[in-house]
Amino acid sequence: MYKTIGILTGGGDAPGLNAVIRAVVKTATGFGMRVIGIEDGFEGLLGETRTRPLSQSDVRGLLPRGGTILGTRNRGRFVEHTVEGLATTSKEVYDEALDNLSRLNLDALVVLGGEGTLTIAAEFDQLGVPVVGVPKTIDNDLACTELTFGFVTALDIATEALDRLHTTAESHDRVMILEVMGRNAGWIALHSGIAGGADVILIPELPFSMESVAHKVRARDEGGSNFSIIVAAEGAVEAGHDQIFQVSGDKEHAPRLGGIAQYCTTQLQTQTGKETRCVVLGHLQRGGRPNAFDRMLATTYGAHSVRVLAEGKRGTMVALQAGDVITVPISEAVANVKTVPPDGQMVRTARDTGISFGAIDEGRYHAST
Ligand code: F6P
Repeated sequence: MYKTIGILTGGGDAPGLNAVIRAVVKTATGFGMRVIGIEDGFEGLLGETRTRPLSQSDVRGLLPRGGTILGTRNRGRFVEHTVEGLATTSKEVYDEALDNLSRLNLDALVVLGGEGTLTIAAEFDQLGVPVVGVPKTIDNDLACTELTFGFVTALDIATEALDRLHTTAESHDRVMILEVMGRNAGWIALHSGIAGGADVILIPELPFSMESVAHKVRARDEGGSNFSIIVAAEGAVEAGHDQIFQVSGDKEHAPRLGGIAQYCTTQLQTQTGKETRCVVLGHLQRGGRPNAFDRMLATTYGAHSVRVLAEGKRGTMVALQAGDVITVPISEAVANVKTVPPDGQMVRTARDTGISFGAIDEGRYHAST
């Protein structure tokens, strides 16, 4: 049985990180294990290490608190460099972290993160440090799990934004466009679009035609609904165009997406003659309290991750499948991004209820507007 486990949070924050930390500490205490918090993701294992013991009193009151008490970083110095055409992280960085892990007497790690962080976690496991991953991202784009914690809270926030945009759009006979997060996967846009009664949903998986979106807006006007609500994932693409970036990437950060809502606003106003406005929801989707579901999911994931280590399993990620929290190999979870299946049930549901994806051949899916 492990005596001391380390815990860290990496990548973008998500509501529920603190709830997982709390559950890990409480469960580990029950198993007689100590927990050491590592600050600022894997970066806290380099140089002057930044760690602190976490006891039950340190996690009191954490269940509803947003953000992460441990701080978080993107890949930092674990970022991949290209050496002779191959993506690689310098061996010295891992060696330094491994030395520090053994100096700190950490027997195993619980790593809370998305694809980037869990890829590093899988590497540590390969190098001999037992690791269990906990799937985190508001984008819900990690494979092998039906839900990542944080997603459902983000969905609530996006849905409330759509509700609020409805009343102002209807009052002014306007088109309102909401831009939500989702780089390569349109889960937030799709689910909030259905829950918030959007008329058009734009997602990266279904390139859209501006003419088709304009057609939907005009058809609604002709049918007597003089306003339209559009929700667009930040990574949505117009057919034949590239994604829209605000800032190009660097070694540590992926390029920052943003601007699709503004682009559609200008184009639609020109094509339909209707007053059009947009809102970028941004980090409001990530900040603040987790909702009840995410508190419950985060707590279950945290408790299960400790039980998994206590059973001597390693190299796994806790995951939700068919209502049960189970474990899957981390390597499988990070192998692919989980994107929206274009012919899946949620897309069908949206189309069945009259929502357009602005597809070139959208007309064939809809009897009504
Ligand atoms: O957590 C993932 C994500 O929400 C993406 O959808 C978004 O592009 C990204 O984070 C933005 O993160 P940051 O502003 O922290 O770089």
